Amino acid sequence: MYSAITGWGMAVPENILTNADLERLVDTSDDWIVSRTGIRERHVTTPDETSSTLAIRASQQALARAHLAPTDLDMIILGTVTGDYSFPATACLVQDGLGASCAAFDIQAACTGWIYGMVMAHQFVSTGAARNVLVIGVEVLSKITDMRDRGTCVLFGDGAGATVVSASDTPGGVLGWTLGADGARPEQLYRKAGGAKHPITRENIDSHDPYISMMGSEVFKFATRTMGTAMEEALVKANLTAHDIDLFIPHQANLRIIEAASRRLELPPEKVFVNIERYGNTSAAAVPIAMCEAIDQGRIMPGSRVGCVAFGAGLTWGAIALQWTAPVGDVGA
Ligand code: UT7
Repeated sequence: MYSAITGWGMAVPENILTNADLERLVDTSDDWIVSRTGIRERHVTTPDETSSTLAIRASQQALARAHLAPTDLDMIILGTVTGDYSFPATACLVQDGLGASCAAFDIQAACTGWIYGMVMAHQFVSTGAARNVLVIGVEVLSKITDMRDRGTCVLFGDGAGATVVSASDTPGGVLGWTLGADGARPEQLYRKAGGAKHPITRENIDSHDPYISMMGSEVFKFATRTMGTAMEEALVKANLTAHDIDLFIPHQANLRIIEAASRRLELPPEKVFVNIERYGNTSAAAVPIAMCEAIDQGRIMPGSRVGCVAFGAGLTWGAIALQWTAPVGDVGA
């Protein structure tokens, strides 16, 4: 079977945090943030919004576009590092919220979570083990960001993206993929406290350990090295080259990283999807959110060849090359 994306949806909180708002919180400027990252604003959750509430909204949209009922799902795979609880999996909360009755589990590949989930869904669908798999990337990083750390607080936003991967007879869908990880330096991007190694204590709360900690320039160098090569690997497996891509959807972490990857792949700006200016880095949600907006803007049509690539904490990376086969007629549904 071919594994086609038949449904897509996204959800972001209404609440917007602009660069001007951040200027009032930390020693930063709109000029610095825009020139170093490309970000102008990001959506952030209120206390009663969580990963599961955003994921359910995005998933309901995706199911409607796929013309499926929740009970048609065979599996829910959800990528996040900011689940509602340490356990149980947020995918289980989403399953209940949707009214589905299938297997449900979270995966932890940070910003690469949706790509990892898509590759897993492809394995189940292409082997005939599942017919419809819901893949979600969701993150509410604002809840674990230190709003006094200008090195991280300007970067991240909250959101969810969901896709339905369905078995299809039509040639296309996921054509090639690559996944990778290098766990040698977890401290380059991590949340030190809150896991079993450093349970949260009064002392480590005072030392900011339960917040995101990042060596920005190290991650930047890793990302510029990895994005282009990962995309190329997935394209080779799909018997394609970068020139065959109609739309490149890279992880939205930093405009300069996106530009470096696009240069390496020799892709002109009109083939590169960018929305980082409005959302910041929404981690696992970034690529599926971008995919939803690309479809809304008519930049993905049946037959379009699309390349998606992401990198993140772990460090992890992954890319998929796909050919779109589903109708996009009910855009805006
Ligand atoms: O999804 C994966 C998640 N992470 C990433 O993708 C992050 C990848 N890294 C980056 O995007 C960039 O490294 C950053 C945007 C985080 C930082 O940009 P940079 O060009 O690498 O800056 P830098 O860290 O080398 O810092 C340059 C200067 C420093 O000041 P000094 O030491 O030169 O005086 C920083 O303290 O910029 C300063 N700085 C800021 N200034 C104003 C760092 N953050 C800010 C800020 N506003 N928000």
